[in-house]
Amino acid sequence: MSKRTILVTGGAGFIGSNLLHLLVPKYPDYHFVNLDKLTYAGNLANLREVENASNYTFVRGDITDPQFLVELFSRFDFDSIIHLAAESHVDRSISDPMSFIMTNIVGTVNLLNAARNHWDGAFDGKRFYHVSTDEVYGSLGDTGFFVEDTAYDPRSPYSASKASSDHLVRAYYHTYNLPVVLSNCSNNYGPYQFPEKLLPLFINNIKHNKPLPVYGDGKYTRDWLWVGDHASAIDTIFHQGKTGETYNIGGNNEWKNIDLIHELCKVMDELLGRAPGTSSELITYVKDRPGHDRRYAIDATKLKEELSWEPAVQAEEGLRMMAEWYLNNEEWLEQVTSGAYQNYYEEMYGKRV
Ligand code: NAD
Ligand code: DAU
Repeated sequence: MSKRTILVTGGAGFIGSNLLHLLVPKYPDYHFVNLDKLTYAGNLANLREVENASNYTFVRGDITDPQFLVELFSRFDFDSIIHLAAESHVDRSISDPMSFIMTNIVGTVNLLNAARNHWDGAFDGKRFYHVSTDEVYGSLGDTGFFVEDTAYDPRSPYSASKASSDHLVRAYYHTYNLPVVLSNCSNNYGPYQFPEKLLPLFINNIKHNKPLPVYGDGKYTRDWLWVGDHASAIDTIFHQGKTGETYNIGGNNEWKNIDLIHELCKVMDELLGRAPGTSSELITYVKDRPGHDRRYAIDATKLKEELSWEPAVQAEEGLRMMAEWYLNNEEWLEQVTSGAYQNYYEEMYGKRV
């Protein structure tokens, strides 16, 4: 296996940390540099399993700073980038769109420019992998699936910012031959997910007997994918994906929100030793999310047929594993929702920049 130096952006977030847990031990000959700003969503507490590995380096920095990226590229001479850093929560994009524009669009262009200038046309063995979302395709009716050439139709500031970054990545391929590859994935769930997204928020609320705020009629549909399966798909596409191509990643695992929530409540009652039906009493219907997409569903046939990737974890099993993980990792939960991890950062890496 050849030696590579890979920049992973957003590696202290939910998917990035799960990805590093897979890649760092699996590829001891690669050097992984995790660049992360450590926003509220990025936590070094997610990375304890790899932080002492000799093929792993953490750098705190902001992709919206182009000069910083130029210096980083000349310091490490990356041959590949796996770009996950983003603002990722739809509700936050509704209240604060500008941080999404800055990180997701401007930050992505800064990275494209840094790679293009550093590689300077010598693209052999180079790869720019952009990790994106199925939300760029907009909303489905009761039937049908998103395929790779479904027309883009983003509805939230988050999905519009991701759609814009996808277009820019493809533009750099067509205009400058930058060797890019992209994937668009459905809803992830699993360990280390910040407790603002549906499942970790509801697990935490059930534990504390707090209301479970279900948006609108609760019949919105998502296709759920175990985060470890997303990580294995990224590994596959990074190594085998064709330059210039896009791959959809999904779990083939559609649930209406309310059905998934009832399933979660059932699992939580069992794990917490509560009488059946206790947790579901916490369900509270609340005002809908503006511009709420009705249904997402991914057709991942291309990835299966061309690169032989398939998800391994089924929803019922994954839901239980996730709930158990959150109940067994109370300290982590407390840490990421408090300022405590900042102290840990200072201890590990010195003063905050
Ligand atoms: P996350 O919010 O958990 O993590 C994002 C990470 O990016 C954090 O560690 C944060 O500190 C870092 N970051 C944010 N702004 C930065 C900046 N300006 N400079 C450097 N680092 C910065 O997100 P996630 O759920 O892990 O998603 C990762 C990627 O996968 C995103 O690009 C997202 O659009 C995409 N995606 C997510 C899902 C999902 O279900 N979570 C599904 C499909 C695609
Ligand atoms: O589809 C991929 C996307 O999945 C990713 O690109 C995003 O980064 C990720 O956040 C996720 O977006 P969603 O908006 O689908 O995820 P969220 O967990 O916020 O919401 C899932 C569904 O649950 C959605 O229909 C809204 C609903 N919901 C969410 C929350 C937080 C509720 O009903 N109540 C809630 O409190």
